[in-house]
Amino acid sequence: MRKSYQQQIVQAPVTFVFAANVSAPEKNLTPIIEQALTSGAWNESTVNYFKTAVPQFQAGLGDKQREYAIKDAIIASTHLVLAAESLGLSTCFMNGWIEDQVKEVIGAADNPDLAIAVLVPVGYAAEPRLNPGRLPLSYNVFVDRISNPYLG
Ligand SMILES: Cc1cc2nc3c(=O)[nH]c(=O)nc-3n(C[C@H](O)[C@H](O)[C@H](O)COP(=O)(O)O)c2cc1C
Repeated sequence: MRKSYQQQIVQAPVTFVFAANVSAPEKNLTPIIEQALTSGAWNESTVNYFKTAVPQFQAGLGDKQREYAIKDAIIASTHLVLAAESLGLSTCFMNGWIEDQVKEVIGAADNPDLAIAVLVPVGYAAEPRLNPGRLPLSYNVFVDRISNPYLG
């Protein structure tokens, strides 16, 4: 990580590294199935479906496996940010890092299946910041088609 930038990483007491494991869906399927059977959430027929469907889906993703794993990790990071902010903490989603170096720090340098999705330092803000405001919804929200901005 470059020295003069991204001071929040060294200033925050905790930084969460959200990493996506491309092989996790298949690796974790067995313990998830065991859990779901124990809790009664899934029956044998659901389990049999997932046993076939999950590996098939993963294989069908082809070179999008990494992208899909990252989506999952980003969803997890968003929940962490919402929970932390709701407790009065401050957070910062971060893309400004060098993947190989982050992987080295967390001891995953030699794991090609692990992709770094996002970093989130968490702590109490040293000072309050003014909210810069948000663009009107019509910039980013559309109804039915992308040519039809939501006007409220
Ligand atoms: C995906 C993503 C990556 C970001 N990466 C960085 C980063 O590397 N460094 C940084 O200072 N801010 C980064 N930001 C911006 C901050 O996380 C934060 O969103 C921004 O300061 C606005 O915060 P606010 O919406 O609470 O005002 C990133 C934001 C997003 C959504």
